[in-house]
Amino acid sequence: MEYDQWERSLTEHYRRPELAATLRGALEKAGKTVRSYKDTAAFDEFHMRGREATRELAALAGMREGLAVLDLGCGLGGPARLLAAEYGCTVTGIDLMAEFVDAAAMLSRMVGLTDKVSFRQGNMLALPFDPATFDTVWSQHTLMNIAAKQTLFEQLHRVLRPSGTLALYEVVAGTMAPRHYPVQWAGDATIDFLVDGPALLDQLATAGFAPLIWQDTTAACLQWFETIQTKMAQRPKGAPPPVALNLVIGPTTAEKAKNTVRNLREDRIRVIYGVLKKSDHG
Ligand SMILES: C[S@@+](CC[C@H](N)C(=O)[O-])C[C@H]1O[C@@H](n2cnc3c(N)ncnc32)[C@H](O)[C@@H]1O
Repeated sequence: MEYDQWERSLTEHYRRPELAATLRGALEKAGKTVRSYKDTAAFDEFHMRGREATRELAALAGMREGLAVLDLGCGLGGPARLLAAEYGCTVTGIDLMAEFVDAAAMLSRMVGLTDKVSFRQGNMLALPFDPATFDTVWSQHTLMNIAAKQTLFEQLHRVLRPSGTLALYEVVAGTMAPRHYPVQWAGDATIDFLVDGPALLDQLATAGFAPLIWQDTTAACLQWFETIQTKMAQRPKGAPPPVALNLVIGPTTAEKAKNTVRNLREDRIRVIYGVLKKSDHG
């Protein structure tokens, strides 16, 4: 697929017009006040297992006070705010979707974190940053839409400082194909560019990244979905929709979740944590 067509298809998939206004309206309707980054956890972590996964990756990657972090495909900025609030990092988020970036900025203003986090619209394949700008590049559930992973990893190597860290929480292909669609990251196979774990590690090695940690966390993701499905089934009939990720994913949230569970159960997808170090070569 040509670059322009790919970018248009991604934009079409993730488009959420008026997302910031939708979130404000839903919060108001539910009588919820946002004062702390903790108040937005139900809808601003756009990946499996929400904050729990973000904290686990932060621990694995050794996140700490003073690190300059690039959050690739930052979505609504939930992980960025957590890294700032709980670990003292300074985080720059980049996302293809202007409406996500606007919502991320709005939520960060609401919780008083604008001195530690900032967001800009852009394609991660054209990173507008100088060489050796960041200590850590952070990516949660964003590589699945990227066909030109080798190009991306070369750019990540460029923007990282010497011995910088690449922290990944990503969906990878399992042993079975094809996948069931739609899923959160793709309506069909045309923008789904999953590769399996060994292929991803090979591409990372070619770009100059050496793995320190590579862990499968598929079972925990399946368990998380099961807990959510039980909670949803227990909701009283006619209850208003929760102020949760359904606001971001849209009306097909339940169908996408169901397909993701099938894909996880049938080994069509897996979920991994990876922590890699930038090496001098590559
Ligand atoms: C599943 S969401 C994950 C968001 C965030 N990382 C999180 O975990 O909360 C994937 C995000 O990647 C963004 N994205 C997809 N392709 C991108 C690209 N080529 N450049 C920048 N962002 C992209 C989407 O707009 C979306 O916000």
